[in-house]
Amino acid sequence: MNSKQQQAANSGRLTIRIHRAKPLPASQQTQPERRSNPFAEAASSNNTALQASKLKRWVQEYTIDANEHDSLLDALLTIKRSQDPSLTFRYACAHGMCGSDGVLINGQPALLCKSKIGSYAKPALPHARSAGEGSFRRTVQATLISQSQPTEATGSMPAPYRPAPAPTEASQSPQPEGNWLGVIEVAPIPGFPILRDLIVDTDTMFRQIKQVEPYLQPSQSAQPAQSSDPADLSGEYLQTPAQLQAYEALSNCIACGVCEGACPIYAGGEAFIGPAALVAASRFVHDSRDAHTLNRLDAIDSAEGIRACQAVRACTRYCPRGIDIADTIWSLVQAARR
Ligand code: SF4
Ligand code: FES
Repeated sequence: MNSKQQQAANSGRLTIRIHRAKPLPASQQTQPERRSNPFAEAASSNNTALQASKLKRWVQEYTIDANEHDSLLDALLTIKRSQDPSLTFRYACAHGMCGSDGVLINGQPALLCKSKIGSYAKPALPHARSAGEGSFRRTVQATLISQSQPTEATGSMPAPYRPAPAPTEASQSPQPEGNWLGVIEVAPIPGFPILRDLIVDTDTMFRQIKQVEPYLQPSQSAQPAQSSDPADLSGEYLQTPAQLQAYEALSNCIACGVCEGACPIYAGGEAFIGPAALVAASRFVHDSRDAHTLNRLDAIDSAEGIRACQAVRACTRYCPRGIDIADTIWSLVQAARR
């Protein structure tokens, strides 16, 4: 098979089912019923009922030509450029470095740019389920309306929510003619307030990371002497390979929030500082040059800090940088107990 034939064999029609959202006009917003949350009592901007009262949500399907080696980001860009400029998602580097494009793909948190179509396309998906349902967490209490074209919802229940019809053979998307790659479902990453379509508000996560003071704080007396001679290494902080290895992997975190989206405790960060902030803290706790280890451990040894972690380990499973987050949180717990 030559390269053209190979290219053709890997290409075909792909349907992407996207969970979309846009803010409702103020006149259509409703007051949510107050619910108690076992992990977070206070209502917040991430409360699912509050979210549902402020957003119109629907599921929209797009069918495009794609190659199974393309990324989901490529596919969404194709949709935006050729079918629907109103589709909204966030990205910057397209190479797994900026951490801005975390979403839920077939119920699994991941980066759009690092997710290949071929790894996710399935012959068929259940009919329009809510984000995370049946996978690892339900994040939306209202039932979403599935439709191939966006329309205003009608019916006696508050727009835009009404019960979705039971899935039937006829309600499944028709399979396009020709080479068929399959269906992929994309939803906003859970754990954060939705702003529009696939864009969520990650401010809370960045505030929490900032809270752990993610910068080197060496002791003043241990400051190395400065020298203008580049060969004079006394002006540098020297570390052994083992000292570097203790935190090197942790410094690869790109603050993408995928671990927060995977964590069933995080849920908006009201009651848990979250795995990303703990990775940031751990990076400096394990740095031999840092002199504030005890202060750092004190700051996270609380009910909202390391004690909130239930060791589910979902964070580790989905981290796109391969960080063993659960292991590093456990190392913080052990260090705090010493
Ligand atoms: S620890 Fe991994 S999943 Fe969590 S924010 Fe950092 S890179 Fe993303
Ligand atoms: S676009 Fe930067 S990490 Fe995906």
